[in-house]
Amino acid sequence: MAKLKTVYFCQECGTQHLKWQGQCSGCKAWNTLVEEVVEASPKQQPTGKQSLNNRSEPKLISEIDAASRPRLITPDSEFNRVLGGGITAGSVVLLGGEPGIGKSTLLLQLALQLSKYKILYVSGEESEQQIKMRAERIPFVNNNLYVAAETNIERIIEFYKQLKPDIIVIDSIQTVYTDFIESAPGSVSQVRESAARIIRIAKEHHIPIFMVGHITKEGMIAGPKVLEHIVDTVLTFEGDRHNSYRIVRTTKNRFGGTMEIGIYEMRANGLREVTNPSEIFLSNAGLDTFSGVAIASTLEGLRPLLIETQALVTPLMYGNPQRSATGFDLRRLSMLLAVMEKRCGFKLGTKDVFINLAGGLRIEDPALDLALVCSIVSSMHDLVIPAKTVFAAEVGLSGEIRPISRLEPRIAEAEKLGFKEIYVSSLQLTDLSQKFDKIKITGVSKLQEAFQKVFGGQAE
Ligand code: TYD
Ligand code: MG
Repeated sequence: MAKLKTVYFCQECGTQHLKWQGQCSGCKAWNTLVEEVVEASPKQQPTGKQSLNNRSEPKLISEIDAASRPRLITPDSEFNRVLGGGITAGSVVLLGGEPGIGKSTLLLQLALQLSKYKILYVSGEESEQQIKMRAERIPFVNNNLYVAAETNIERIIEFYKQLKPDIIVIDSIQTVYTDFIESAPGSVSQVRESAARIIRIAKEHHIPIFMVGHITKEGMIAGPKVLEHIVDTVLTFEGDRHNSYRIVRTTKNRFGGTMEIGIYEMRANGLREVTNPSEIFLSNAGLDTFSGVAIASTLEGLRPLLIETQALVTPLMYGNPQRSATGFDLRRLSMLLAVMEKRCGFKLGTKDVFINLAGGLRIEDPALDLALVCSIVSSMHDLVIPAKTVFAAEVGLSGEIRPISRLEPRIAEAEKLGFKEIYVSSLQLTDLSQKFDKIKITGVSKLQEAFQKVFGGQAE
């Protein structure tokens, strides 16, 4: 019998090592190498190396028909958007996200909505009864949806041959295994080989396949970072589990842009599409009478999104000042506080500062800076920011107000939602004012000037 060939794979990034070592040479993580058998029995075919396409003759580029990839437009417009305009035939989509975020719900709901199509939903995580119970919560019915609780890839391929579905969903890639590899399900070589077999079905038969992938705490699609480059599209599903809003982001897409996002709300009866996101991230309950609240006009992907930033500044309670930020980068908050201290003389070293972005979203847009510093000043001096005011500018290290990208759609969104004044960098003022007549555009060049204009000299 042939000797088993084993190598050591890093379970984080998939780098292969011939010998065990404490630290992965690829991603520098410690204690992540695990021995895996890469060759099982002599009967195995080196499957991963076969051509994905049966017709691999060279062709003239001018003779290739680019329009031959039809798209399936789903009833879910948010999902169409993140895929770049519907599901492409033969595409393999990996949906990543932390456990419990709603990946299974999203794909089951999609399968139920596509009632004209025959769909095979394979779950290695839940029993058929559990899937049925979940499906009963969702108000769509698809009589052509087949459900299988199966983890063996060869069996799944058999199901495909019997049923010939139009779409396959595999939940999740970490639970399935192929007989040709001896290592455990979820290990790098198993995930890679199983995915390669699934992808072959998609490419040979031109059917779309969706795979769920779990994400580790570090934010990688667990173990198989390797998967990201063999699939066509990578979507990540994110959000705060204690909050009901969820965002699907496109991190890679061979059939569309990667700037798109889709927004959903998790309800008791499945996921609801959120087509007008700004309205939900602004709590309308008479906030114009509270201090510590400022509205920022941000961009998520290509969509303008008005979001409420809240700050609470209190005298230092014990020892070191506390800084806490929900939905915002803590280091950026520290930077903004340092700029406020150095350039405007605010004594923030003796204050605790807490920041919160409404709706449980995590936003990295620098255009949030100006709203955030204004909410901090507003809380510190207990001064209310005038109603219907919105901010869209970055704050630099010298306290200068910097321009941001794609200002126009941000102003347009604020105007549409009835805001009366927007603060932007004076460098971006130029000819913008003529384009908008219902909103006043105020340019500011320095932090102090901004505070002066917003609070009318009271925030010294
Ligand atoms: P799930 O889709 O199982 O998450 P994942 O597959 O990413 O691990 O479900 C996430 C949560 O959503 C779960 O706690 C139950 C909740 N949920 C609802 O709130 N409403 C619903 O209609 C359904 C089906 C689930
Ligand atoms: Mg699940």
